[in-house]
Amino acid sequence: MSRIAYVNGQYVPHAMAGVHIEDRGYQFADGVYEVCEVRGGHLVDMRRHLDRLERSLSELRIAMPMSRAALEIVLRQVARRNLVREGIVYIQVTRGVARRDHFFPSPQVPPAIVVTARSASRAAADALARNGIAVISQPECRWARVDIKTVGLLPNVLAKQAAREAGAREVWFVDSRGLVTEGGSSNAWIVTQDGTLVTRPADFGILRGITRTIVLEEAAALGLRVEERPFALNEAYEAAEAFNTAATALVMPVVRIDDTIVGAGKPGPVAMRLRQRFHDFTEFSS
Ligand code: PDD
Repeated sequence: MSRIAYVNGQYVPHAMAGVHIEDRGYQFADGVYEVCEVRGGHLVDMRRHLDRLERSLSELRIAMPMSRAALEIVLRQVARRNLVREGIVYIQVTRGVARRDHFFPSPQVPPAIVVTARSASRAAADALARNGIAVISQPECRWARVDIKTVGLLPNVLAKQAAREAGAREVWFVDSRGLVTEGGSSNAWIVTQDGTLVTRPADFGILRGITRTIVLEEAAALGLRVEERPFALNEAYEAAEAFNTAATALVMPVVRIDDTIVGAGKPGPVAMRLRQRFHDFTEFSS
């Protein structure tokens, strides 16, 4: 089956899909994106992802490329046309196409949009979660507005590659005070020795992950103790458990941070319970 992409109003074969060389996303990383999980053919928490897309766009003063209702149809269509039952839908919106100039295009140009979808094996993700992953720490080197989900991900790319080359799957950024901010493409969590879930508040220092929000709701429903506060890398080394959250990984146990084995060195009971029950707390689009 050939893959299909949605590009600026048209469904086109993936292999032929392209954007203009003067798309501002390509030249300036002047755009934003969302990644939404697909499960059983349904988009998971689309409403929240589109809320965050609208917020990211408005922070950058880029218009929505179409009405929200139309965008929902496109997302479902792209998932359906690619026969994605388990996987992800990717949405990218940029400030559009204009002669290269740092100033916003004047007169204004329409925003450019691309939507793709691809299957991802749930069994493979579950197998990874059963063993847990390793992370390495790296100094935080990103700009101050990582609360906006922009396509400007070069620090994340370099840090994640460093993680891979060190035999780990994810990086945790650590700020100048020794506090963990978040992962290269996930939010970071620990469970303290007394069983308290700890994650950094979603201020400007991290992306307010949708998976993070769901896990906070889930933890409340399960009666777990939660503290939204910054935690130090040293505290994480001594934690009972650690894990990451993201739409692509859901709840992913972390069993090693740098050279330190976390807890018993295997996925902890809190992380595994949150992972197992995760979809009880999500919304599925029709
Ligand atoms: N990234 N923090 C960062 C820096 C991220 O890139 C992501 C997700 C998250 C988690 O957000 P959410 O729970 O809404 O997926 C936190 C996506 C999956 C990516 O870039 O592929």
